[in-house]
Amino acid sequence: MSIFFDKSQNIFHLSNNEISYIIGIEKEKYLTHRYFGCRLKGYHKINQLQTIDRGFSTNPIGEERTFSVNTLPLETSTQGSLDYRVSNYQFRNIEGNHITNFVYDRFEILEEKLILKGLPSLRGEKEQTLAIYLVDHVQLLEMVLYYTIYDDLPVITRSVEYKNNGEKAVYIENAGSMLLDFSRCDFDLMTLNGAHTNEATIHRQSLHPGIQKIGSTRGTSSPQHHPFLGLADKYTNEDQGDVYGFHFIYSGNFIAQAEVEQYGSTRIQIGINPENFEWKLIPGSNFQTPEVVLNFSDGGFNQLSQTFHKLYQTHLIPKQWQQEERPILLNSWEGNYFDFTERDLIRQARIASTLGIELFVLDDGWFGCREDDTTSLGDWNVNKEKLPNGIEHLADSIHQQNMKFGLWFEPEMISVKSHLFKMHPEWSLQVPGYPQTQGRQQLVLNLSLPEVQEYLIGILVKYLSSNKIDYIKWDMNRHLTEVGSFHLPNDQQKEVSHRYVLGLYRILIEVTEQFPKVLFENCSSGGGRFDPGMVAFMPQTWTSDNTDALCRSKIQFGYSYLYPPIMMGSHVSDSPNHQVGRITPLESRFLIAMSGNFGYELAIEELSPQELDVIRDQITFYKSHRSLLQFGQFFRLKEIDAAYSTAWLFKNETEALLVYFNGLAQPAQKIQYLKTKYLDEASDYKDMSTGEIYSGSELNHAGILIPRIKGDFRSFHTHWTVIE
Ligand code: GLA
Repeated sequence: MSIFFDKSQNIFHLSNNEISYIIGIEKEKYLTHRYFGCRLKGYHKINQLQTIDRGFSTNPIGEERTFSVNTLPLETSTQGSLDYRVSNYQFRNIEGNHITNFVYDRFEILEEKLILKGLPSLRGEKEQTLAIYLVDHVQLLEMVLYYTIYDDLPVITRSVEYKNNGEKAVYIENAGSMLLDFSRCDFDLMTLNGAHTNEATIHRQSLHPGIQKIGSTRGTSSPQHHPFLGLADKYTNEDQGDVYGFHFIYSGNFIAQAEVEQYGSTRIQIGINPENFEWKLIPGSNFQTPEVVLNFSDGGFNQLSQTFHKLYQTHLIPKQWQQEERPILLNSWEGNYFDFTERDLIRQARIASTLGIELFVLDDGWFGCREDDTTSLGDWNVNKEKLPNGIEHLADSIHQQNMKFGLWFEPEMISVKSHLFKMHPEWSLQVPGYPQTQGRQQLVLNLSLPEVQEYLIGILVKYLSSNKIDYIKWDMNRHLTEVGSFHLPNDQQKEVSHRYVLGLYRILIEVTEQFPKVLFENCSSGGGRFDPGMVAFMPQTWTSDNTDALCRSKIQFGYSYLYPPIMMGSHVSDSPNHQVGRITPLESRFLIAMSGNFGYELAIEELSPQELDVIRDQITFYKSHRSLLQFGQFFRLKEIDAAYSTAWLFKNETEALLVYFNGLAQPAQKIQYLKTKYLDEASDYKDMSTGEIYSGSELNHAGILIPRIKGDFRSFHTHWTVIE
């Protein structure tokens, strides 16, 4: 890996064994994007910049009419002059102007990965960072573009720091994290979109002239649009072709856009959503943006996903969880909702323990007067009617069953019907004179307030200091409205959304660092805030409130483009399913849940003895393959088809496991051989149910016959061990 400045050509060349990223300096002023893709051994500007005298083009004074910034492929935009494409930033000065004129000033190479203060970012080991400084000499503003190249992965990270070295305050109206121009537009744009209970559907469509954008103004990254853009060649498929993945490490409002402009280039821009955002940059201060991950694959979507999985497992989640096996859990929610007593829970835990379950999670309903979702958020004291002996006593009883104990919190929320609201109505987000909006009958605490941050840290520290809580599910079940704060002056009200996210990160940093052994599960009504920002603190996320096996196969399939299965909470729930009413076999529910971070969430006392036996066997099976399922590589084998069938594969050095989920049974079932594609060609594999031995190459290329499947939503698995 290296970052090299070639003075003779005025270019920066960032490269490792797999990729090159090249930035040019034109006329000593403008930063151009010259190349991003497979590693180049050398670069001599073969892809010359086009200089044509174009109608309606702009030219800096003193330059030829053939030199126009507005047609150059750039690394950052200009604003208010020279360039008309979407911008990465916008300032407003005290005089009310938006114009700036940033030009190249200098660079620096840092011998480390830049770690962002107060924001989640990727860790590094031996990485280097290029810092390129641009200066607006009129207002003495500075913009630093940061680029880190990873040593062992085809990954670059980018972020920007905006600084005010002048004497007057300026307002940043748009603080983008990255921009780059590709000199072509024949790409497909990939996004992950959805809704509550229907997260992460992959969409792929041709880019067309104009701006195509996704984003969130909801205060969180949202289940509607994932903060990710992919740009794929037309012919790219799972195993072939070029694809770029841009992923934003941020948990609040974002924008991710692609602009196809008049001469067929494509601009990518990602950052905090400028709608409802502004930041007052007082003299001497700076603003650091969140980070974007740029991942390049010349081996299709599979290679892109392998990189993301490895990157996030090794450089994003808290270090102590990298190799730590995750327990099989029983979550109380779908089995009890709000209706339980201590005795119920202890009985359920006893059954769970005999089945081999390792963690008992008490979900919503344990605090205040919480009998339904209309009250008590904010009152984090135990409900004595349900749990007369308190949380610690319950935790002790669970520990006595040889299980860990986990507890649900929704720290960011406040119910109007709560003691906290009576004491501190001003702590909820609000704008004076306007009614507050409820969502799930609750309001949102103003996490930008330092006193609210302190209060929440205090609550969590108090519970965790007992040393009896091994796991926390951190939920967040509505989006932000009336985003204002009394503690900020009028001209800083648009800072609140970002300050909310910074407040959230501050709480998470303090609590997770103080209690490194506690396993945190991220949740926002499922995958409503499943983003790399949250993953940096919480190594697993409740993927969706939809626990139906068929729906889950699609949701987990979508998220698998970016996250490995160990990060996706997935539970076996009751049938008929509570969200969609579908009846599915226990075997299928198990195979889908087992393909994620595994647990159960059902009325355990209502299971028949036969079902309990099956579950006991499932748990034994899972435990004997846990290392494969949690730390092995995951491969998608079959895109979900019209009958909702799909297949995937887990693999490590010693074993492999294939899961086939068959949606709707078909008449006249077609002959189908499923190729495992990714097994080691040189190894032999023993089918553990038949004892037959096959070569990896025949499994990969000739494939296994899909058996006749009768009945809907059935599935099967095949397990092989590698023969030495
Ligand atoms: C959200 C979560 C669920 C459950 C409920 C409790 O919907 O996603 O898993 O915790 O809240 O109210």
